[in-house]
Amino acid sequence: MRARDVHSFAEPEKVRVTHCSLALEASFGKRALSGSAELRLQRFDAHAPLLLDTRDLKIHRIESRGREVAHRIGARDAILGSPLEIDLPAGADSVLIHYSASEQASGLQWLTPEQTGGKSRPFLFSQNQSIHARSWIPIQDSPGVRITYDARIKPDLDLRVVMSARSEGIEDGFYRFLMDLPIPAYLVAIAIGEIDFRSLGPRTGVYAEPMLLDAAVSEFSDLERLLAAVEGLYGPYRWGRYDVLVLPPSFPFGGMENPVITFATPTIIAGDKSLIGLISHELAHSWSGNLVTNATWRDFWLNEGFTTYIENRIQEEVYGREQALMEQVLDRRELEKELAEFEPRDQILHIDLAGRDPEDGTTRVPYIKGALFVRQMEEAFGRPVFDRFLMAYFEHFAFRSITTEEALAFIRRELFERYGSADKQIPIDEWVFGPGLPASAPTAISAPLEQISEAAGAWIAGMFDAAAIPGRTWNTQEWLEFLQVLPRPLTLAKVSELDAAWRLTATGNYEILDEWLQMAIESRYEPADQRLESFLINVGRMKYLKPLYKELMKTPEGRARARHIYGKARSGYHPIAQTAIDKIVD
Ligand code: BES
Ligand code: ZN
Repeated sequence: MRARDVHSFAEPEKVRVTHCSLALEASFGKRALSGSAELRLQRFDAHAPLLLDTRDLKIHRIESRGREVAHRIGARDAILGSPLEIDLPAGADSVLIHYSASEQASGLQWLTPEQTGGKSRPFLFSQNQSIHARSWIPIQDSPGVRITYDARIKPDLDLRVVMSARSEGIEDGFYRFLMDLPIPAYLVAIAIGEIDFRSLGPRTGVYAEPMLLDAAVSEFSDLERLLAAVEGLYGPYRWGRYDVLVLPPSFPFGGMENPVITFATPTIIAGDKSLIGLISHELAHSWSGNLVTNATWRDFWLNEGFTTYIENRIQEEVYGREQALMEQVLDRRELEKELAEFEPRDQILHIDLAGRDPEDGTTRVPYIKGALFVRQMEEAFGRPVFDRFLMAYFEHFAFRSITTEEALAFIRRELFERYGSADKQIPIDEWVFGPGLPASAPTAISAPLEQISEAAGAWIAGMFDAAAIPGRTWNTQEWLEFLQVLPRPLTLAKVSELDAAWRLTATGNYEILDEWLQMAIESRYEPADQRLESFLINVGRMKYLKPLYKELMKTPEGRARARHIYGKARSGYHPIAQTAIDKIVD
């Protein structure tokens, strides 16, 4: 028997949804998605009702075989939403649900024109991972349940619709889509807005608001090369096209690996491709995550750990070993920072999330600790063996959702037993079921970053002025290294000196700006106050919001500022970001 998904009310071992046909109208006036979902079913228990996940959906009517059928909506759980139980006529193999999603749907963000880059048209986008599909589709919202889907979507304004599926043209004002490969509900995605497209190659392209399209096209011009690099390592790309959609700045994540179309924050457009690693990451999910999927959110490290490892392999192939090593070194520092703060239970890859929001598990641990475990296997068995093993893993589990136990059994059999005794040096149980990092965890060293770290020390020691810091040619990772190794809190004099020489408060690079503003808050550097406020109001990426609000909350004056800024910013944040920041700014 399969481990239960504690984040879904569904009982797919009794009745399982296999296909979903959506027909929805998107009203920007009412901020409503409404219409119907027809679900095709596989029934294992002839007497069992169909159990679905919902959150704040209005269910108007449910039919099966042309007749209305009875349904019950259970009590609303704060994390999970409400179960929807539907009586099924004998032999019925589908239901048709007429419904609408609430304006407050946790998986949707309706943007006013002012919240977009172009400022003239509204925008809608979805973000289903981890358990938000249920807020706009009545579905078995568990990563262990895979469905194919088709959709007909009609916006009430003249805007383009994109989805995580192949486009099948427009008919009677309805944009049509088909995803004929089985995916979990968290990978269903939609965006509607003033969106233009430019092709980058035979299989790749960029969607973005018109004013951002040129910048996005230059930033992502290596997309075909990234795709070729992963295919060279792990076998053919199975999803047809690979496009990137650049969203407005309120997108709460960096990127989301929606099949066929990665959703991405505009904050990775740095002008020098130094943040393209995020695209390598989302692309890598086309293998680890979308092809082979975590069965429950407890197994999330299977998605993110393997993907973070592959992301770095792609970066190495396309941008060289030095760049890849720099990224590993910075990742490791982020992980160590979290491990120093987290309780032991949150340092475990196979994390127990019962009674908790799966979002609580989205720390650096599944990503970076997970990737270190994978890298240790690579180093122990060597690249030729390990690369072949990974290719076999994707082939073996293709289009399946697997648990940690299933993945480990495969690793033990196809890697450790097959290729001898290298396992002796790999403490699997400690990696997967224990807190912290095994002492044998691999460590990356980057010579250029070590030099920068020395330069930072020399500047702090007063050996030269900030103007003499050799930062002219540094990329994002090099600047991050410099800022991160400085002693904290930095004196106001040093902060001012650095800003005068390098204009960091005015930087358009959001990774550097985020680091800089954390430092500015800590050192109470007031010339950055305005920039901090506009950053927090205009950018909704949680990776930046969380540390900045947390830093503000450390002092009484900071708390007052945090409340003041959040008061202005909150309504512009995505529902997921609102929930996260509500917990920080009370
Ligand atoms: N799948 C994740 C995003 C995600 C995870 C959304 C869990 C909701 C719940 C995506 O692949 C991801 O990891 N994005 C990162 C970027 C990456 C380079 C670390 C992000 O958004 O910061
Ligand atoms: Zn990811």
